[in-house]
Amino acid sequence: MQSLRRPEPRPSDRRRSEPVSAARPHIALRAGASGPALPRRTVAEIPVIAHRGASEDVPEHTLAAYEAALLQGADGVECDVRLTADMQLVCVHDRRVNRTSDGRGVVSTLELAQLRQLDFGSWKQRPGDEEFAEYPDLRREGAHRVLTLERLLELVTGHPNRVEMAIETKHPTRYAGLVEEHLVALLDRFGLAHPRLGERSPVRVMSFSAMSVRRIRRLAPSLDTVLLLDRVPLRLRDGSLPRGVRIAGPGIHILRIHPEYVERVHSMGNRVHVWTVDQPSDIDLCVELGVDAIISNRPKAVLARLGRDGAAPAATARHGVIELNPDSP
Ligand code: G3P
Ligand code: CA
Repeated sequence: MQSLRRPEPRPSDRRRSEPVSAARPHIALRAGASGPALPRRTVAEIPVIAHRGASEDVPEHTLAAYEAALLQGADGVECDVRLTADMQLVCVHDRRVNRTSDGRGVVSTLELAQLRQLDFGSWKQRPGDEEFAEYPDLRREGAHRVLTLERLLELVTGHPNRVEMAIETKHPTRYAGLVEEHLVALLDRFGLAHPRLGERSPVRVMSFSAMSVRRIRRLAPSLDTVLLLDRVPLRLRDGSLPRGVRIAGPGIHILRIHPEYVERVHSMGNRVHVWTVDQPSDIDLCVELGVDAIISNRPKAVLARLGRDGAAPAATARHGVIELNPDSP
């Protein structure tokens, strides 16, 4: 993105050893083409979202990984979803199960009962590994089996605090739009797909596929959607987003090179949720730029860096829909 200008000084000039805990003053932003200017969040208000659960500590996308994330104090969780051969939504990142289980095969060709035979935990453990010692109950049977989205929704909605959910649809897949149809139907069963006017669901749907995001907007118009970006296409370099989408989801690699992208998105009245932010310098960069959510494999480390160890969650309402905050999404 040659046309984007880099602001001075660089956020990376910040002293690396210090947690970034001081609240920043709200900065008024100019009104943009897609909506009114939104105030920046303070450091304490930046939600920390556990990417695939607390996936650095515990095998990704297992119930154990999400329980660990909530124990660590994450404000929300991220998951990838795919449809099985019998139309069940499961939380698996890769098209195949080979990397994260002791089985082989393509998720979309396997039935849920077949996936349930597999162990999605042992691939991350090495003999004598004590990495789960901090969470002894996470070793119980079932905690390392394939996780259905339904089970994850039960966990999240049963939590005493409001927990945000960033659900990513994975495309391409042979089931195309059936993914979004099953997803919205499942969210509906939990009362999360159609928040009333003035309320916001804790769930948002993300995708690299603009088509998937459009389908969600058609099926559940009041649900927040995030367009994930591996690179910023020319037409979106002014900070605009496709119609109806209010959140950009750039990879941290984009902001390292083009930090000014955050201000451009904000100037259009849109928000920025960044993945996957694990390094201290990247966390500092996100804070300095005023991003609106940090998605990390290391939620505990991010919370500590933000000075929030043991502190109140960024969102304190009970689970379920909340009244719309003018500072949201
Ligand atoms: O949170 C978005 C991020 O998860 C996208 O990349 O490959 O980890 O799903 P990936
Ligand atoms: Ca993902």
